[in-house]
Parts: sequence; C-alpha cells; structure tokens
Amino acid sequence: MRATLIAGNWKMNGSLQSVIQLVEGIKTGDVGTAQLAVCPPAIYLMKVGGMLEGSQVSLGAQNVCDQASGAFTGEVSGGMLKEAGCRYAIVGHSERRALYVESDELVAARFAMAIESGLIPILCIGETLQEREDGITESVVARQLDAVIDTQGAAALGNCVIAYEPVWAIGTGKVATPEQAQAVHAFIRGKIAALDTAVADKLQILYGGSMNPGNAGELLSQPDIDGGLIGGAALKAEDFLAIAQAA
Ligand code: 13P
Repeated sequence: MRATLIAGNWKMNGSLQSVIQLVEGIKTGDVGTAQLAVCPPAIYLMKVGGMLEGSQVSLGAQNVCDQASGAFTGEVSGGMLKEAGCRYAIVGHSERRALYVESDELVAARFAMAIESGLIPILCIGETLQEREDGITESVVARQLDAVIDTQGAAALGNCVIAYEPVWAIGTGKVATPEQAQAVHAFIRGKIAALDTAVADKLQILYGGSMNPGNAGELLSQPDIDGGLIGGAALKAEDFLAIAQAA
C-alpha cells in the first residue's frame, strides 16, 4: 500500500508575510493522515524550514542545479537545499521546460544531482494540449521518463516521486477527468513495471493540474493516483488541508 503525498508547489507567489501566514495555517490545521510537503520559492526555504521543524510537513524546493557548486549564477545546489532542510526537489516542471527551455537531458541531470544530494526528486512529466489532441500523450511521457531511465537506470526511480501534470490542466481550471489521469498513471506505472516491478509497485505517482478540494477525492481514489502536486489551491491553507483530508 502506497502512502498518499500531497505537495504544494507555491511557484513564484507570496511575500515573507504571506508565506509565514500560510505555514502557520497549515501547521495549526488538521493535516490528516497523508504525507504533506510544501515547496516555497527558494528565498523562503530557510524560513519555512525553520517553521516546519518538528511538524509532519516536509519541505521541498522547486528546482535544483545539475552541478554541485561553482560559477552557475542564479542556481541553487542540492547541498544547499539539504542544508535548508529540504526532503524533496521538484525537477522538470512544465513551466521550467517551456519558459526556461529545460531539455529532457537537463532535467535528467538535475534529477541525478537531487539523488546524489540525498533529496527525493519529484519528476514532473506531461503533455501539452496539442500533444494530447495529436494522440501522442503516451509517447511524450515515455520520452520524458526515458531521459531519466537511460542515464540513471530504472532503479533510480526507486528514490523518486513522479508527478503527471498535463500542461493543459495547469492553472487553467480544466482538470483531467479521473479516467484520463488514471489512464496515464497506469501507463507510467506499467512502463516502469516492465523494467522493475518492485520499483513500480512502491512508486508514488502524483497528479497535478487544477486539483482542488472539490475534485481531489475522486482523483485520489483512482488506483494509480498516489497524491497530488497542487499549485493555486496550495496557496490557501484551508484548501490545501481540505485536499489532504480528501486523500
Ligand atoms: P495548478 O494546481 O495551479 O493547476 O498548478 C499545478 C502545478 O503546476 C503544480 O506543480
């Protein structure tokens, strides 16, 4: 039986004051039995990490550099993220892939550095609307997974979380139906099972894209959906906790 993980990706939102309020709201609310994590903007990691000490809520980063240290202006290393108290690091979010032109290869290198640093990568994969309409959803997510599998081996997926985030569902209010999401999750697990059944059985595969308290219950009841990566709804403690309770 896989544990359910509800992770909030705060993206580039908030201020010091609003972040403190949000963490207080989450910490003092009913967190239920799901595993919880929050991924604040990098500048707030130390602050939020301190506030979460001793709580059931884990800390995650929104990205991690593919290099250990050196002349990489603007990047944050896995070692630094560990020091800040991170357990997770998101890699390959579609906004990074699309807006900052991160290739499958770079995402795989970031994934490798997360593992090497002792972080659990949350590897985001998913198709665009055009790709779905073209009927190539499975080949797109397979290609994104293969970039990691080909360089790290299938066993490396034993230390990660995968987030299936259809790009057309992110921030649009257009959530995938439970059947659409389940079908892709089952495809992902099946692809990995063909290489390593033990890894596939224990792998947490999260759904992301307009998940909210109203639709979370049905999505999370699907057999291959093991949690959620939440954007907008994670910015309100009440909504984030309601999603966790739906799990
Ligand atoms: P929304 O929940 O705002 O659609 O964002 C999902 C997401 O991108 C999480 O990483």
